[in-house]
Amino acid sequence: MAMLAVAWLLAMAAHAAEPIRISTQKMDLIMQVNGQGRLVQSYLGKRLLHDSDLGWLKEGREVYLTHGMEDYFEPAVDIEHADGNPSTLLRYVSHEVKPVQGGKETVITLADDQYPTTVRLHYVAYEAENVIKTWTEITNGEKKSVKLAKYASATLHLDREAYYLTAFSGDWADEAHMNTEPLQPGKRVIDTKLGTRANMFTPPMFILSLDQQAGETNGECIFGQLGWTGNFRFTFEVDNKGGLRVIAGINPYFSTRTMKAGETFVTPEFFFTYSQEGMAKATHHFHDWARNHQLKDGTGTRLTLLNNWEATYFSFNEDMLVGLMDDAVRLGVDMFLLDDGWFGNKYPRQSDTQGLGDWEETHSKLPGGVGRLCEEARKKGVKFGIWIEPEMVNPKSELYEKHKDWVIHLPGREEYYYRNQMVLDLCNPEVQEFVFEVVDRLMTSYPEIAFFKWDCNSPITNIYSPYLKDRQQHLYVDYVKGLYSVLDRIKAKYPRLPMMLCSGGSGRIDYKALEYFTEFWASDNTDPVERLFIQYGYSFFYPAKATCAHVTTWNKQASIKFKTDVASMGKLGFDIKLSDMTEQEIQYAHEAVANYHRLHPVIGDGDMYRLISPYEQQHAATQFVSKDRRHSVLFAFDIHPRFGDKLRYVKFRGLDPALQYRVNEINLMPGQSTWVKDRTYSGDFLMTVGLDILSAGSMKSRVVEVVAQ
Ligand code: DGJ
Repeated sequence: MAMLAVAWLLAMAAHAAEPIRISTQKMDLIMQVNGQGRLVQSYLGKRLLHDSDLGWLKEGREVYLTHGMEDYFEPAVDIEHADGNPSTLLRYVSHEVKPVQGGKETVITLADDQYPTTVRLHYVAYEAENVIKTWTEITNGEKKSVKLAKYASATLHLDREAYYLTAFSGDWADEAHMNTEPLQPGKRVIDTKLGTRANMFTPPMFILSLDQQAGETNGECIFGQLGWTGNFRFTFEVDNKGGLRVIAGINPYFSTRTMKAGETFVTPEFFFTYSQEGMAKATHHFHDWARNHQLKDGTGTRLTLLNNWEATYFSFNEDMLVGLMDDAVRLGVDMFLLDDGWFGNKYPRQSDTQGLGDWEETHSKLPGGVGRLCEEARKKGVKFGIWIEPEMVNPKSELYEKHKDWVIHLPGREEYYYRNQMVLDLCNPEVQEFVFEVVDRLMTSYPEIAFFKWDCNSPITNIYSPYLKDRQQHLYVDYVKGLYSVLDRIKAKYPRLPMMLCSGGSGRIDYKALEYFTEFWASDNTDPVERLFIQYGYSFFYPAKATCAHVTTWNKQASIKFKTDVASMGKLGFDIKLSDMTEQEIQYAHEAVANYHRLHPVIGDGDMYRLISPYEQQHAATQFVSKDRRHSVLFAFDIHPRFGDKLRYVKFRGLDPALQYRVNEINLMPGQSTWVKDRTYSGDFLMTVGLDILSAGSMKSRVVEVVAQ
């Protein structure tokens, strides 16, 4: 032990003087080793210009705080060693820097000099996109098991005048509300313990404004996101000196892990960006990084679709579905998506009370099976997609009757249900195989399936894993690992298969999940007015191409134009029968779909600017600009303006002031007179003076296309 300690001290002495600098083009995270050999964070913020200044940085607080030592605030890691000692003291051992895809990775190794516990801090800096991805590996080098009670992915330290936290909260059909509050001394915790539908009340993302509340174009802010499709926890603790410690990781609630001798625990990844120029820039960082490095098929196009869910719910037959495929053709969308209700024979899935888990086509409803539907879709020239919810089971199902041992349920207690269903035990490799086969069997039998909508309607209930036996505290984490191992296999076998992540709306959404999914269902609430808020909230982190938005019959007062214009700011789809629409509306929608396809490089791959927040006005406006700044589209909405509402001109952003742009209103109802046609303005004028786009009408919308000459 003493020899090891000497080696560590020598290594530490060799590197103590050099700061460890993790930089992107616009941000710096700087650490150093202090006189006691401990790793401290000296700086986080705007990238510093001169290397020669780095020596002047003060030491700062310990990067990865441990339980049991001198710091009196929340630790990142808490280990009970095999001999019962609950403390860990980490000293710097070494660090290395290597190029990785898209960036540069720095790995810093820390170790306890009394116990063979090693902690490796990983930081990948995506230089061009200004995002840092960080995670931690904790290794138990002891000969016996230890108990790991806390295991954060990362801690960030800040020392500012004030901190403003914007968090996101919600519920079913009410997602992504933004709430901003100044952080006061003490702790503010955002966490969830719902397990599967983990983000039903809050997603794992936050915005932190530094010194003062940041705006879209001004102020300093940090955006953070945890890549973990399960229970998470963010702790924001303002200490006695006014310093802020942000700890991000898995929620340690009921999750103390027993680590065997030699075992390494790898935490989820935490992603963050910093902007000195307000929130729009931070959004661009996240969107660019996601498209280039994280989101499945991030740079690809997306399939527009017609979904039968709101058109039929569970009441459909083969002919009705084939009829809806004709609707898809008339709209000009790429795909028909068959939703819930197509499976189960002993217990046909005629409502959400039965059949879940029995993944065989209902013969009475679909005598020709999925094969006939694929064939009809092919004949009509549309793709075919299908809904599954493979992690769940109804107690009224053959699966439950056969395999109660696969169901998460408490021994000796009456069962309780969320949406009449229960969660399968993905900790169990046999269940992982079953879930993989739900997809694999469908794909093998019907290779024409072009898309999956993967739903997850229940949180983990009746919390006990029959598989884990005496390791129940591993359930929440091992479940998510089981899910990832299934998704890894699906991605390896079907790398190009687009999939939508759904969870009764967006009850499960994070950037690790989006490694496997091309998009997510933002909400079951498709009232376009509500969607203006929900899509606004998610837009801070997720690009439009990942955020599914459908036109439905919700909100009977709103026009099809208003609904389609709102949905065109996301990944456009329809959940409606054309028989619910007039001829004029169908004609309008057809043209709007064609415009959406044409504008994909702008909406899907361009920069998004939130021009008017629906939180601040009875109007909303969002603009998308292509990366070369030559093409832009602006969506403007009047919600319920009051009498005397002051209508200001809407100023564009992100254009080239020196260029001349041709401006046209698009997405017009047949016969609707246009307010701007083929006019030419300079980028300078559009951004400085703006255009008179808003109106005093209720639920009105205008879409303006701007093309450089
Ligand atoms: C919840 C989803 O959010 C809906 O879109 C739909 O797929 C239903 N589940 C089906 O049960």
